[in-house]
Amino acid sequence: MSIESAINIDDLKRMAKRRLPKIMFDFIEGGVEDEVGLRTNANAFRDLRLVPRYYIDTAKREQRANIFGRTYASPFGIAPTGMAGAFRKDAELYLAQAANDADIPYLMSGAANASMEAGAKLAPKNMWYQIYGARDRSFQLDLVKRAIDCGVTALAVTCDVPVSSNRERNRRNGFVRPLKMTLPTILEAMLHPAWVINYYRQGGLPMLGNWERYATKGSTPDQVADLFAKQTPDASQTWRDLEAIRNAWPGKLMVKGIMHPEDARIATGMGIDGLIVSNHGARQLDMMPSPLDVLPMIRSAVGPDVALLLDSGVRRGSDIVAALCLGADFVLTGRATLYGATAGGLQGVKKAVSILQREIDLVLGQIGAVNLDALGPHYLLDTVRAEEERRNTGAMASRR
Ligand SMILES: Cc1cc2nc3c(=O)[nH]c(=O)nc-3n(C[C@H](O)[C@H](O)[C@H](O)COP(=O)(O)O)c2cc1C
Repeated sequence: MSIESAINIDDLKRMAKRRLPKIMFDFIEGGVEDEVGLRTNANAFRDLRLVPRYYIDTAKREQRANIFGRTYASPFGIAPTGMAGAFRKDAELYLAQAANDADIPYLMSGAANASMEAGAKLAPKNMWYQIYGARDRSFQLDLVKRAIDCGVTALAVTCDVPVSSNRERNRRNGFVRPLKMTLPTILEAMLHPAWVINYYRQGGLPMLGNWERYATKGSTPDQVADLFAKQTPDASQTWRDLEAIRNAWPGKLMVKGIMHPEDARIATGMGIDGLIVSNHGARQLDMMPSPLDVLPMIRSAVGPDVALLLDSGVRRGSDIVAALCLGADFVLTGRATLYGATAGGLQGVKKAVSILQREIDLVLGQIGAVNLDALGPHYLLDTVRAEEERRNTGAMASRR
């Protein structure tokens, strides 16, 4: 099956799965423990219902979206996914290039294989960067400085990894540090010879591009990965560390992973510009609610002026439209675009982006919205039902 023949994100996922050994695909796809969170995320979207309006002229539809004072071509960007270069060489560069070409933001992972400097060269106006807290605070502050120097346009600090999570698929497959591949895992990998040959021809585990310079000169990718693993996660991070980043970074700053309204209030109270409401794609705490379920509470907590982004479970344009109706300003896609990068490099990411754009456009036409300003809770079944009940109650009262 060629990339061009993919008609939805699930097709790209199947192609990525076929290409990768199970040990690698499981790293992308897996959740934690019983993987309840993966179902929570998917079901939250599946349980929402949009109620269309008709006889509205939607012949000219528009999906441009504003965030942080900048207009992008679509209301979604690419979420940070670490080690993408292990799934396909230079995957982060393809993600950056595709984001640049489509004029959507690319939030590069703090555990990316490419460096932020390389990403910023390819996507000078679309490059965001994600930071993980480090035990030695000088690393995180140096990363902020580098982001300023190379022209990153917005920064996100991930708050939802205070400790490593319990990814049982990885443990079962031996995808741990140091790598402990089991015999069945090795035999299964032999069924994907093209990927295996490429991987070893490129020297095995790729370098963590943003951490290379913090290791002693000439360190191998494995040694750099060890340094990273010693520095992150850092369970001792507090709001004061976020404050230090706020003070060091003059541009737009987001916190990624906020799920509690009180945390949302604290963060915005200290001058954070945007919150990424996210459960990390169900890869941290299995019992978390879906970001969609907490989004309205968080919107009420921070008011209309704080930028709210949402990720986790987005696979369709309709998911993006639904999140905007519920109060998000912008959406990020993790696996959806990563499947594209893995399955087909630059063409694969472009395909994932264009599938989502086409689906958004169709849904706007189907529900009677000419642009994103027209979206809101009035398209959601729960709101329509509540409004009708209110009217009916009012009508009965006036009849009495
Ligand atoms: C393979 C993979 C690696 C990830 N690495 C990071 C990371 O380095 N930093 C981070 O903040 N989030 C990371 N995430 C979480 C994503 O940024 C995002 O929150 C999540 O993928 C959204 O869910 P979705 O995949 O269902 O779209 C990763 C997710 C995946 C699937």
